[in-house]
Amino acid sequence: MNQFKSNSKTWTECRKQFVIPEGADRDEAVYLCGHSLGLQPRNTMSEVTAIIEQWGRLGVKGHFKGETPWISYSDTIESNLGQIVGAKADEIAVLNTLTLNIHLLLTSFYQPEGERRKIVLEATCFPSDRYAVVSYLKHLGLDPDDHILFWEPRDFILYMDDLTALLKRHQHEVALLFLGGLNYLSGQFLNIPEIVELASESGIVVGLDLAHAAGNVPLALHAWQVDFAVFCTYKYLNGGPGSLGAIFVHQKHHKVEFPRLEGWWGNDISNRFEMLPEFTPAPGVQAWKLSNPPVIAMASLKCSLELFVAEGMEKISNRSRDLTAQLEQSLKLLDTELFRILTPSSASDRGAMLSLHVLQKGKDLFDHLTDEDIVVDYRSPDIIRVAPCPMYNLEDDLHQFCTVFSDALRIISA
Ligand SMILES: Cc1ncc(COP(=O)(O)O)c(C=O)c1O
Repeated sequence: MNQFKSNSKTWTECRKQFVIPEGADRDEAVYLCGHSLGLQPRNTMSEVTAIIEQWGRLGVKGHFKGETPWISYSDTIESNLGQIVGAKADEIAVLNTLTLNIHLLLTSFYQPEGERRKIVLEATCFPSDRYAVVSYLKHLGLDPDDHILFWEPRDFILYMDDLTALLKRHQHEVALLFLGGLNYLSGQFLNIPEIVELASESGIVVGLDLAHAAGNVPLALHAWQVDFAVFCTYKYLNGGPGSLGAIFVHQKHHKVEFPRLEGWWGNDISNRFEMLPEFTPAPGVQAWKLSNPPVIAMASLKCSLELFVAEGMEKISNRSRDLTAQLEQSLKLLDTELFRILTPSSASDRGAMLSLHVLQKGKDLFDHLTDEDIVVDYRSPDIIRVAPCPMYNLEDDLHQFCTVFSDALRIISA
């Protein structure tokens, strides 16, 4: 029996705005992998084609002419992203990709001075974050072993008490906390306002990697006084494979003269095209931009963000909480010791994704799901990540997933 019944016509209509991948044996795959790559909005094709057409028709004049002159194309994207992550429009810039943006903002916000030289990372941070920090420290001629402190999880979960104790032990040594706001492996959503408050008591800068949080959970980066954040847009924000990254720099830093790696697109628009030898920083976060932006890539992000803004993050997150709670409840009903849910059970401590720790033959289980057109992903050690995305997943996806997952557990344990 299908235990998931949708009452909401609206969400069914919302799903229709997306292209659902085909399955090998079903018309549509059961796609629960928006935490890795979000699905394509139906109007992506026409938005991207319009830019290509404009390029063909106008050539270089497209920068300043046509329905959407490319010179200001990023403006709407940035103000929409601001609404999604709780930032002012002038605190958000779209540029480059995530890992590169980590390097750019480390250059500005990691300023070791005297004893205060250490960076705190969560021990289960996404590998690229660690590689970026380690390589950046080496680039400065500093030994990463002496400059990184790890906030260690207990059974995959990070506890504020442990962070408090760590900061107390190293109160005068920590320059920067750089944390994944929503952990990519466990799905834990950190208590960001509490972390900022704790850090600011000791004058520590807070930077966040929000790859798994943007478009997934309600954020209020401006109100929470986060110093800076970086995120990608290809997961919950459906910008397309490898789509542009975005950065947030709080207004309180907009007048500060930062050490910064600069390029001509960060020069103020008023004299950017005068080709002057001296750099005039654009106001606020715009000064971090380096290059003439890739408009074709921005087009696919633009149309997805419009769908988010049309629904509003509050409504989307309420729906998300609902779907994830339903998934959790149904998984619990399977009543087996073959797997456990790692993700916190409180709705305020997680987003859409549940991480399942499979106690044996995790890869076999994952392969079985894949063969049955269930799209989730697998991460070492034996973790299967499943994310119902409120914009395009319906209760029936959860039903299909749980049915196949339950069969798969039975088969692999036989
Ligand atoms: C939390 C987190 N940080 C960083 C990255 C790396 O992103 P990119 O490949 O866009 O640099 C990812 C990619 O999935 C991620 O999930």
